Amino acid sequence: MDKDVKILAIESSCDETSAAVVVNGRKVLSNIISSQIAIHTKFGGVVPEVASRKHIEVISEVVEQALKEAEVSFEDIDAIGVTYGPGLVGALLVGVQYAKGLAYSLGKPLVGVNHIEGHISANFIEYEDLKPPFVCLVVSGGHTFIVHMKDYGDFEVMGQTRDDAAGEAYDKVARAIGLGYPGGPKIDKLSKEGNENAIKFPRANFHEESLDFSFSGVKSAVLNYLNKMEMKKEEINRADVAASFQKAVVDFLVSNAMKACIIKKVDKIAIAGGVASNSALRKSMIDAGTKRNINVLFPEPVLCTDNAAMIGSAAYFEYIKGVTAPLDFNAVPNLKLGER
Ligand code: KG4
Ligand code: ZN
Repeated sequence: MDKDVKILAIESSCDETSAAVVVNGRKVLSNIISSQIAIHTKFGGVVPEVASRKHIEVISEVVEQALKEAEVSFEDIDAIGVTYGPGLVGALLVGVQYAKGLAYSLGKPLVGVNHIEGHISANFIEYEDLKPPFVCLVVSGGHTFIVHMKDYGDFEVMGQTRDDAAGEAYDKVARAIGLGYPGGPKIDKLSKEGNENAIKFPRANFHEESLDFSFSGVKSAVLNYLNKMEMKKEEINRADVAASFQKAVVDFLVSNAMKACIIKKVDKIAIAGGVASNSALRKSMIDAGTKRNINVLFPEPVLCTDNAAMIGSAAYFEYIKGVTAPLDFNAVPNLKLGER
């Protein structure tokens, strides 16, 4: 394609309202993120009804700002991309309806984007020469997957969590040790002051060949440990708990991710999703990758957590294949990876 393709992308699947303008799936002209974290912190987690209302309140302004910062007008846009699943249905609907209205009134094509594919695509922004095939570890608040991306839009799920997502486990453990929401970044920070070998939290054991995860066991082990210490009236070292929990999670993620690279004989692995900004995970993945000559890729933190730029990238690769949304396009809260 000779002409540059500019996508206006919209993301509203959880607690961030975001709009971005992305050129050719790789170059970000703007990426405006309006976070609701401060609102949901009061409740210790995302309240779906509140999230939908807040999306409605800010979406027009967020889109306007994205165009302004990119110095483009609606006329300059080639297509509109929007997350249509997976996510909270009421939250998704705000973005989907808004994008549908825009596309219809402007006479521009609309592209529906799978949120998880969006997370993976953040790596195309960070690494402008990156092309499939590669293995990707997707670790967010709602999802944990090991995926083989064979081609654009072509995914094989190699492993996934059987219970809690990695980010969910971080958030739950953070709450238990009084760190508040969202817990991931707080555990990441506190762990730096703790001893990761202080407490041995067990990890789930599956069949040797399985690349699946389970994090509810380690979460329960932390809760049991805290209860036991409280009953014995012994002092709890929160930094040691955070660091030891983090080690159990990171070891599990890294060991399965490396197994997946060996199975697929790939020399690069990308990490994606909110937990991909975790400093211990990044370090441990790089160490393990270096030993095996596997290049470890990850987007800058702002592209790891929910944002519309990653949606603009994924939308571009669909758009150039000619995939656009049908007239009955709707939100699909439980949309599976690779599903259309
Ligand atoms: O990808 P994301 O923004 O939303 C979902 O699609 O779920 O991920 C949010 C999750 C939260 O669970 C948050 O605690 C976690 O990512 N997270 C982190 C870090 N930063 C965000 N977890 C561990 N370490 C971090 N530095
Ligand atoms: Zn996400």
